[in-house]
Amino acid sequence: MNKFLAFLLFALVTITDGIICVSNLVPDQIRLAFAGDNGVSVGWHTYACPFSSKNPNPNPTVIYGLSPKALYSTSINANSSAYDTRNILKTSWFYSVELPNLYPSTVYYYQILSSSYVSTSAILSFISAPAVGDQSRTVNIATYADMGVDGLVEDIITGKHLFERALGALQKILSSVDFFLHHGDICYADDLVSGVFKTYEEAFDYCQTMMTNITSSRFYMTTVGNHEINCTNAPILNDLCSSDHKNQIPYSNRFHMPSKQSGGYLNSWYSFNYGFVHVISLSCESDFPNAPSGNLIDTITQVNWLKNDLTAVNRVVTPWVIVQCHRPWKGSIPLDDIIEGGFINCPSCQAAFEKILVEYNVDIYLTGHVHWYERICLNGTINTTNYVNPNGPVYLTNGVIGNPEGSSILYQRSSDSCFLSTQPGFGILTLLDPSHAIFTFYGNSNMAILDQIHIIKNR
Ligand SMILES: [Fe+2]
Repeated sequence: MNKFLAFLLFALVTITDGIICVSNLVPDQIRLAFAGDNGVSVGWHTYACPFSSKNPNPNPTVIYGLSPKALYSTSINANSSAYDTRNILKTSWFYSVELPNLYPSTVYYYQILSSSYVSTSAILSFISAPAVGDQSRTVNIATYADMGVDGLVEDIITGKHLFERALGALQKILSSVDFFLHHGDICYADDLVSGVFKTYEEAFDYCQTMMTNITSSRFYMTTVGNHEINCTNAPILNDLCSSDHKNQIPYSNRFHMPSKQSGGYLNSWYSFNYGFVHVISLSCESDFPNAPSGNLIDTITQVNWLKNDLTAVNRVVTPWVIVQCHRPWKGSIPLDDIIEGGFINCPSCQAAFEKILVEYNVDIYLTGHVHWYERICLNGTINTTNYVNPNGPVYLTNGVIGNPEGSSILYQRSSDSCFLSTQPGFGILTLLDPSHAIFTFYGNSNMAILDQIHIIKNR
């Protein structure tokens, strides 16, 4: 054997504990989330060695610190997870390690350590959340729903590459964003099974890998949408979805939201604070009467949790209260709503949540599911861009950043619709101080401001 071939084999093949790894394994799909007021969750994914389901990293460890040359703190979480991905070649493993007791508003550097089979990550960084109640600086939140990978069919027919264009637009504003709110329908993995010759898992893996530059440097806070529930968009090839592609199992393995720290459940409902903002994330899919996707627990636990969470909010400390949930209950009617018999706009969501949001003076309700951007009028005023002491949450539907299904088609405009756009874009919510916020809807293609409103609350 010549020396080059021998070197090549040595480089490619690692044999440990009887397992052959043909290639070097890496931690990928790295993602950050808040984990309580002073904590951060670092999540990631790694493939197991080919033809093996053995966990390649049984002691997932993150080192971190205040300088890239001083990663002196260590955190370990031995609870790794996997599920049936229907792929005997590559088993996926998912990890989440919490970094506790962080200083507020501080730059931290972190690195995922190597294991027997998996290499270390690059040294990455984030800025921790400000102290709860800190009103000294503006808060910028990127908001949207319904972002997912284009199918091959869509790309050939339209050439749009909506997902990649959306990521390009988000990359341009990344440096000014504190955290992201993605109101459900993340990646559209179940669309791809029937649309593009990619498996559910390949689609999810590609999507999260492409998003890593964003999710490894900013907190990416998600809620569940219908595409994260039951793989129902692949009816013809449904046998490609395993039983573990039901009950939001892939979503719950891939994202780790602060439900534990806020008394919520799985990644379905939870809350967190960021400076003078309190954010609540709900499931519009399950766990209330006549929920579109059934129940994980029952019809009352989530609703009671919402009331208790809102009751506990101190509006002097966190005057702004924002809620994200996947499905809208106000606004214009898309053609899909007629085709699907009224399942787009969600009357059962309205029955479960609206009265509570109004009673507790929630400031903003962020939603998606319909693939356009729409702003609802308030206080009986039309054509205004100034929402001064609105008599209910400012209501924004924001589901048009880019996904394989494209934009929704308008069937009937609502009388309380103040603005509607089907151009691909996303929102930036800027909270200037306890009384003044600006919401801006940007177009992906040229970052043009397509809509902008001021929200004024006299506290
Ligand atoms: Fe949806």
